[in-house]
Amino acid sequence: MNIVILTGAGISAESGLATFRASDGLWEEHRIEDVATPQAFRRNPVLVHEFYNQRRAKARLARPNAAHQALARLGADPRHRVTLVTQNVDDLHERGGSTGVIHMHGGLETGLCAACGHRWEAPAIMGPYDRCPACARQATRPDIVWFGEIPYHMEEIAAALEQADLFAAVGTSGNVYPAAGFVELAAAAGARTVELNLDASARTSVFDEARRGPATQVVPQWVDELVG
Ligand code: OAD
Repeated sequence: MNIVILTGAGISAESGLATFRASDGLWEEHRIEDVATPQAFRRNPVLVHEFYNQRRAKARLARPNAAHQALARLGADPRHRVTLVTQNVDDLHERGGSTGVIHMHGGLETGLCAACGHRWEAPAIMGPYDRCPACARQATRPDIVWFGEIPYHMEEIAAALEQADLFAAVGTSGNVYPAAGFVELAAAAGARTVELNLDASARTSVFDEARRGPATQVVPQWVDELVG
């Protein structure tokens, strides 16, 4: 079976990483427009780097949980072709054993040169005055897709959605497009759709099935059903 899975911040919540839209979520401490737009970065690159440096430090201390591990188990099942797309910028899927993860919103573990496009392994602390290892210009930015920018790997994701027999969204509130629209693309391609989330999302009504609960419980159960 061709399975496409979209994950969001909820899958990493039980690893101790804050989600974005909960009452204690990240954007309340930091207004979104102060950190996650190209304009914010132009206005205050030091603040934006600091925000992501903190998130990188937290992500490095976090450990993958049973939900990340269950999805890796599903990905390793030879009976299925699994495309794992994440909106998360942490690397907990990889550390949980998944390979080929598509990071549509970028990642904390690479730096990106805004001048030449070169990417490199991120040090713990990055700043706007770091020089690009390739072109030596001082144009280092986090390798994160900000609001107003185009997510990465969209063609590959669209191709996988067109082939999908089953689409699952895990731990995402369904507020941010284009990811929030993947359920319709998969359904239009004939896929069955299932949402695995702690509570109702903005898109719940569009899914064929919704399973409620913490990711560390509902995801391993769902994977057991598919893997047997
Ligand atoms: P949100 O914070 O918007 O949503 C997280 C979802 O996870 C919510 O629906 C929660 O109910 C659910 N949730 C919380 N804890 C959970 C748990 N233990 N098990 C299962 N579900 C749980 O995060 P995203 O939907 O991922 O973009 O946000 C999408 C994008 O918005 C992010 O990638 C980020 C942000 O702006 C960028 O940084 C570009």
